[in-house]
Parts: sequence; structure tokens; C-alpha cells
Amino acid sequence: MKGIILAGGAGTRLHPMTKVVSKQLLPVYDKPMIYYPLTTLMLAGIKDILLISTPQDLQNFQTLLGDGSDIGINISYLEQPDPGGLAQAYTLGADFVDNQPSALILGDNIFHGHGLSALMGHAQRHADGASVFAYRVRDASRYGVVSFDAADKVQSLEEKPANPRSNWAVTGLYFYDGKAPEYAANLQPSARGELEITDLNKKYLEAGNLRVEKMGRGFAWLDTGTPNSLSSAGEFIKTLANRQGAQIGSPEETAFHMDFIDAAQLAACAKGMENSDYGKYLISIANEAS
Ligand code: G1P
Repeated sequence: MKGIILAGGAGTRLHPMTKVVSKQLLPVYDKPMIYYPLTTLMLAGIKDILLISTPQDLQNFQTLLGDGSDIGINISYLEQPDPGGLAQAYTLGADFVDNQPSALILGDNIFHGHGLSALMGHAQRHADGASVFAYRVRDASRYGVVSFDAADKVQSLEEKPANPRSNWAVTGLYFYDGKAPEYAANLQPSARGELEITDLNKKYLEAGNLRVEKMGRGFAWLDTGTPNSLSSAGEFIKTLANRQGAQIGSPEETAFHMDFIDAAQLAACAKGMENSDYGKYLISIANEAS
């Protein structure tokens, strides 16, 4: 399965923080935001990943992550010349996807919770259709919103409705079959001139092929869209990391646990980071194992 990380956007709600730095490179506690969605895709067993970002920011992602070979994966890069909407990931990324099943994750979405791999594994088992996740939030109008009937069947999907029909937001993690590029190519821009991911999901809904799985309250789906939520996300990660002495959102550690790399390769990843707690942590995991 292929994976796409979409890390575009101007991040205007975070100005001036994002005036010269991409939102998805801002720190969430002790590491760049992009580490978290990258780790999520890796936890789903995905090793072939395309990162899409703006012409100004793409090089920085490349400098940070390289070609992924040090963590046993393959990362390629593609520019999104204009911010034309999230579904553009599939018009721009059509060659990369190559009619195969894929997962798309938004570069500012942070997921955490026991059972995340199993939940994603479940979504990957279907050869046909799309799987997305619904998460209960207080203010659903900021998101794509899904409503269900009494039998939990999907009733409607709406992008940022002023009056949401439910509190179930659609998270920024999507699993699609090989038809996503074809559907995306046939989307019409919305009133704000963008190819909406919600419209792509609606295509699957109309085809009777959209599964929406509820992500229960045991999972954390964190928002990083405002200074307040970004800071809260950092505090959440910090609290758990300090309490447990374990990292959340470490691509290197995940690569090791997923058997993409061995202990020696993990130790090599820490080179140049020995002075930080993060680097020390990677070395300690490598040492414990060897
Ligand atoms: C996007 C999608 C929305 C989804 C959200 C998840 O909104 O358009 O449907 O619920 O991501 O993070 P954005 O946050 O880019 O405005």
C-alpha cells in the first residue's frame, strides 16, 4: 500500500509562526509535527510514501527526512504549486499511486492510542472502497462532519457546516482503493475554489463504498490548527512522554519496532542527535535490543 502525506497550506491561522516555517515543521513538544503523521503511516506498515508540500517548503522536508532509507522506507517528494485543496493529493499524486490502494494523512494530524495499528489494519483489509474515521469533537463545524442514522449507517457528509448534524468529525486519515485518482480528477472545485476531500469521500458514499469507523474516546486525535490547540497538543505529548519515558511519534523507533531497520541502524539514526534527549532515547532503545 502507498502512503501520501499532505503538508501544504499557508498556515495563516498560525501567523506569524508560519511566516517562514511550514506549519508541519513546527515543534509539537520535542519534534517536528511531520514526524507524527509519518509515524502513523509507518504503523500501518506503509513504506512507500509521497510527501506533498508547497514549492517554498518542500526542500525543508527533504533536508529533514531525506529519502527515508535510514529508517528503511522510501520517501519521495512532490510540489503542490497552488493550494487547490486536499483532494489534489490524488490529482497530483496519480502517477505515484499508480491505481493501487493508498492511505492519505494530513501533515498536521496527530493520532495516538492503543489499538491504532489494529484500527488501520482493519481499514486496509478491504480491497474495495474507502475507509475513514469519525471522532467525536465539541466543535464539529471546523471539520468534515459525518452523521449517522439509528443503525449507524452514514447519512450525510458535509465540509465545515455552519450547523453540524452531529459531533462526529472526519479525521485527516483516509484509506482509498485504486480509484481515488480517477474520482479526484472528476471533482469540481467547491465554492472556495478547492478540490475538497469531503467531495472525494462523497463519491465513495454515492457508490455505496464508504466505510466510516468510529474512533473511540480511548484514542487521541489532536488538533494543531490554532496557537492554543498546537500548544495543548505539545503539552499532551510532553505529559505522556515524561510519565512513561517513551516517545510518541518517533519514526526511527517505529521503524525499529516494525522491523524496517535493525538495532545498529537505529543507533546510526541517532548520530548527530546525541546531545538531545531524543537522540539519547534512540540510543537507549538500540542498546536495550543489542
Ligand atoms: C481538513 C478537511 C476536513 C477534515 C480535517 C481534519 O480540514 O477538509 O474535512 O475534517 O482536515 O483535520 P482543514 O483542517 O484542512 O481545514
